[in-house]
Amino acid sequence: MDAVRADVELHGEPCGETRPAPCGLVIFGASGDLAHRKLLPSLFRLQRRGLMPESFFVLGAGRSGDTASFRAAVIRTLEGIGAGAAEAADFAGRCGFAAGAYEGDELYAALAREIEARSADHRTGGNCLFYLALPPDLHAPVAQRLGAAGLLRESGEEAAWRRLVVEKPFGRDLASARELDRRLKSVLGERQIYRIDHYLGKETVQNIMMFRFANRLFEPLWNREHIDHVQITVAEGVGVENRAGYYDRAGCLRDMFQNHMLQMLALVAMEPPARMEADLHRDEMVKLLRALRPLPREPAELDRSLVRGQYTPGAGMAGYREEAGVAADSVTETFAAARLMVDNWRWSGVPFYLRSGKRLARRVSEIAIAFKPVPHSIFAPLVPGSAAPNVLVLNVQPEEGIAVTVEAKRPGTKTCMGSLTLRFDYRSVFGVEPPEAYERLLLDCMLGDQTLFVRSDAMEAAWELVTGVLETWQAGSARGACTLHGYPAGSWGPPAAGALLAADGRRWRTP
Ligand SMILES: NC(=O)c1ccc[n+]([C@@H]2O[C@H](COP(=O)([O-])OP(=O)(O)OC[C@H]3O[C@@H](n4cnc5c(N)ncnc54)[C@H](OP(=O)(O)O)[C@@H]3O)[C@@H](O)[C@H]2O)c1
Repeated sequence: MDAVRADVELHGEPCGETRPAPCGLVIFGASGDLAHRKLLPSLFRLQRRGLMPESFFVLGAGRSGDTASFRAAVIRTLEGIGAGAAEAADFAGRCGFAAGAYEGDELYAALAREIEARSADHRTGGNCLFYLALPPDLHAPVAQRLGAAGLLRESGEEAAWRRLVVEKPFGRDLASARELDRRLKSVLGERQIYRIDHYLGKETVQNIMMFRFANRLFEPLWNREHIDHVQITVAEGVGVENRAGYYDRAGCLRDMFQNHMLQMLALVAMEPPARMEADLHRDEMVKLLRALRPLPREPAELDRSLVRGQYTPGAGMAGYREEAGVAADSVTETFAAARLMVDNWRWSGVPFYLRSGKRLARRVSEIAIAFKPVPHSIFAPLVPGSAAPNVLVLNVQPEEGIAVTVEAKRPGTKTCMGSLTLRFDYRSVFGVEPPEAYERLLLDCMLGDQTLFVRSDAMEAAWELVTGVLETWQAGSARGACTLHGYPAGSWGPPAAGALLAADGRRWRTP
């Protein structure tokens, strides 16, 4: 039966958007990809929406450059996203630049002078957000130099705040993540550290919470009695592109599972916090991550719970090992699919299937909640085959929205049944594109709301699970165990990923 578009009418719309207090923002790596593709455009859009502080300044920091060249680059970036000349110039007018080696003293002395002068000019009271948009090996050294220069101290008559945003990847295994954390905490308190996982800023991901806990309808069904299994897919159409240097050392498990996939799983499966407050919310997230059953440490058993793959040539596209910057004998996984179990009262026996990969058939991220079939079909003698189980799909990207499949009668005099999809599509209902995840997250950093940022204990719990697998792969590969399956570029991954679900009598959805 054809999909139907749900007729959505919005009522009331209680909305809690707040403007932060005046502050400064310092972007390290301000000449980089993240700064120009995400951070500066997001700050600009926030300003357009009236959500930037009444008074603020932006300081770029980098190895070379000056205020004039940075302002020119900011204008180019903003005009590139459709800003008018006047508004781009106005935003750039708030920008300055401090130059110097990240591991030398000069940069921090220059920053101290600039922050002091601009804080006075913009009456920010000394509030300042530092954003590390830098290669990960610079995160700890830069934080410690900021600390040594006294720039992270929260002091002054008005008790100004100082916060630091750290980008992913947060370490490359449990030990290195703990070491990075230790170094950050030598100069910062946990409430000053914002470990960003931009998936948590996506509208549909946040909607998981609203959907689950602002409706009566779903929560009574949200458990092992009614849910058969959950599938979380983050599929990328692109290959490794120009990030081979990073990716070939990381792989899919570190790049996608440790952070985005496990955070989404935690949001879907966590218990309701008493209130939407950062620590209450994050307490529940960490409890769920700690309830994940560790994956088997024995290589052959691990292969039955987690499939890893690497793309080979296909659909006119090069294989991973042919990509520029990738070693010809690389064993880095560009795909992983896993069956995870949550050992708690609510989810006992319900598998959570997670898969993510590069060069898959299309770019899509979704969470599908597959309900159990009806216990008995009264239509069975009239309609051959049983009713298809209901599926609730939360579309995270590219089209953000929600879809529910239900069984219904098809028009006609006979008993004809078909699946019907009720769809809510963000763009068509609200008439606008959902805001960029970084907008929400940057706003939250300025507001001091850590709800959507990963706390130290949750980061460790996620690394614990992933590090166990990485160690088994390493030990298994040395013994010729732990299969790395090939899959043609442009496909949905290796057949072994299908076999993982087939072994449980299930199959992957085709999103
Ligand atoms: N780009 C994304 O979409 C994205 C998404 C998620 C997470 N991230 C994370 O965000 C951070 C920044 O990513 P990015 O893509 O913006 O990185 P990038 O463009 O490669 O580098 C950012 C800046 O860091 C400085 N830099 C680069 N290599 C350096 C080196 N070897 N030594 C010293 N400085 C160096 C450069 O600034 P100067 O030359 O001006 O000093 C560069 O412009 C990384 O941790 C990344 O994992 C990025």
